[in-house]
Amino acid sequence: MATENPPIYMIGGSKGGVGKSFVTLALVDYLRRVDVNVALVETDTSNPDVMKAIHDEVECASCDLDDVSGWMDLVNFCDAHRDSVVVVNTAARSQAGVAHYGGTLANALDELARRLVVLWVINRQRDSLELLLKFGATFPRAVTHVVRNGYFGASEKFALYRESNLRKAIEEQGQSLDFPDLADRVADELRSQRLSIRKAAETMHIGERAELLRWRALFSTMFAKVTPVSRSHG
Ligand SMILES: Nc1ncnc2c1ncn2[C@@H]1O[C@H](COP(=O)(O)OP(=O)(O)OP(=O)(O)O)[C@@H](O)[C@H]1O
Ligand SMILES: [Mg+2]
Repeated sequence: MATENPPIYMIGGSKGGVGKSFVTLALVDYLRRVDVNVALVETDTSNPDVMKAIHDEVECASCDLDDVSGWMDLVNFCDAHRDSVVVVNTAARSQAGVAHYGGTLANALDELARRLVVLWVINRQRDSLELLLKFGATFPRAVTHVVRNGYFGASEKFALYRESNLRKAIEEQGQSLDFPDLADRVADELRSQRLSIRKAAETMHIGERAELLRWRALFSTMFAKVTPVSRSHG
């Protein structure tokens, strides 16, 4: 690759409620704070929660990955925002669409001069891992990191993953990461008010804000491990 444009981060996990949207919100917040241009692709068309929280602050597009035209839109969006990291929030149901049409994106990566980095969010159940194996077949050249969501328990409770061959395969090319747990009442406020983390850090009451900032410091340390800060200019 001659010139490398900023990567595409795809936040996957396939399953509903594993924390994909929370990880996406956190990654967007982190990248903005380290001065990286960022643009969002929201693929959860029935519940575009991340887009609703950040559309005032970040360039966003909505793409339906159940449909091949959604994948073309995604590729075009990546081309149109070549100075930005593109963060893709995936929906629980996009498994079939990924298998059918994901090759459209995979084939365009060289021409886009972008790397695809997958952050695969898991809970403690087996299907989180099985779904990753299927997903990985579509994007063999992606760098894939697994994100244990601390909402489901401390890192050592992810025993299935720890004992799996999948973990070894992941750690040969990527990392196993721990996404911190945020106090429920702060998480609930973020979600119900549809706040970006930046907005929440300005507007929440002092106690909630203190908890939010604790969480932000932890997830920032996590993302720093997988996001080389390479500003494209400046
Ligand atoms: N690390 C966390 N700390 C606190 N709460 C969390 C965390 N992760 C997830 N949650 C809770 O779980 C809920 C579901 O998370 P989220 O919406 O991010 O999942 P999702 O994978 O995007 O779900 P869907 O497939 O429905 O889009 C959140 O609204 C929040 O209440
Ligand atoms: Mg979601």
